Amino acid sequence: MASLNSHAKDLSRFWQGKILWDIPMAQFSTLKVGGPAEAVISVENIEDLTRLHHWLKENDIDWWIVGRGSNILVPDKGLTGVIIVLAGEFRSIEKLSIKPLSSGEEKVLIRAGGGCSLSKLVSYCTAQSLTGLEFGVGIPGSIGGAIVMNAGAWGCDIGSLVDSAILMDSDGNIATKQGKNLGFLYRKWSMGKNTILLSATLAFRPGNKENIKDTCRKYQELRHNNQPVAEASAGSFFKNPPDDSAGRLIDEAGFKGFSIGGAKVSETHANFIINTGTASAANILDLMHVIQQEILKRFGIKLEPEVHILGGGLNQS
Ligand code: EPU
Repeated sequence: MASLNSHAKDLSRFWQGKILWDIPMAQFSTLKVGGPAEAVISVENIEDLTRLHHWLKENDIDWWIVGRGSNILVPDKGLTGVIIVLAGEFRSIEKLSIKPLSSGEEKVLIRAGGGCSLSKLVSYCTAQSLTGLEFGVGIPGSIGGAIVMNAGAWGCDIGSLVDSAILMDSDGNIATKQGKNLGFLYRKWSMGKNTILLSATLAFRPGNKENIKDTCRKYQELRHNNQPVAEASAGSFFKNPPDDSAGRLIDEAGFKGFSIGGAKVSETHANFIINTGTASAANILDLMHVIQQEILKRFGIKLEPEVHILGGGLNQS
C-alpha cells in the first residue's frame, strides 16, 4: 500500500467532488488527538464509493472509513492515504416493512446507512415508538462503527438487532448478508478486514413511547453518574477480559487520576482515558502501555484495547 504523494494530482483530476487536504484527524476523533490525514473525501452514495474504492485499489493507496471517530486513536504522525466519510444517502433511515412473528408480535424492519449516527437512530426509534435500541442512547458512534465493533451497553448489543446488512468487500463487491452470518462476538464482528458496512436493516418491536423515553432517561442517568461523558474520550478504552471488568482492575491497581502528559485515567471510571486538553496520541499510547504492563504484572491479565489504533490496518470506526 502506498501513500498519496505522487497520486495527489491524479486524485484531484479523478474525483469531481471536494477533497480536503492535510486535515488534522484530531477533529475527526472524540479523543481529539491525531496528526493530519493526506486527504479526506465525503462520499454521498454507493456509486461514488464504488468508483473511489476502485481507484484507490488500482493505485494501491491506503484508505480508512471514519464515522463519528468515537472509537479511534490516530497517531501523531497522521495517516497516509484517503479518509472516507460516509455522507449523503449513507446517513439515511428508512422504514422497510412490518412483519408478523409466530408469537403474534410484530417486528419492524428499519434500514439505516453506515454513516448515520447511532443517536439519530435512537431518536428515530423513540419517535416511531420502536423498542430495542434504548441501550444505544449516549453511545457516540456511527451505525457502521457500532456494527463493526458490535457496540453495546447494559447487557444488550447492536449485533442482536441486525436482520441483514449490505456490505462492500475488499474487492469492491457488494452483497447482502444475514445478521446471523456476520459472526457477532463481544465488541467485534467476524467480517474480513476492509469490509465496509454500507447499510444495515435492524429489527425492532413496536413499543410504548413513554416507556422507551423512560428507559433512555434511565440509561442516560446511569451513564452520567458512572462515566466521564463531558470529557474527551473514546468511551471504554479496553475490552473487558472474560468474566472480569477492565474498569475494576485498573481502579484496583490505583490508576484513577494517573496521567502522562495530557492523557489521564478518569477519576469517574477507570476504563476511560481522557484527553485533558493537551494530550498527544503518544501520551495516550504511553498511558495505555503502562496500564497494560501493570495489570499483567498484578493480575496476570492482558488488557486488549477496545479503541481501534489506526495506522496498522484498515478500519471502519
Ligand atoms: N468499576 C470499578 N471502578 C471503576 C469502574 C468500574 O470498580 O472505575 C467496577 C464497577 O463497579 C462494576 C464493574 O467495574 O462492578 C463494571 O463497570 P461498569 O458497570 O461501569 O461497566 P463496564 O464493564 O466498565 C461496559 C461497557 C460500556 C457500557 C457499560 C454499561 C465495555 C468495555 N464497556 O462498561 O461501554 O456503557 O458496560 O453497560 O464493555 C464502551 O464500550 O465504550 C462503553 C462505554
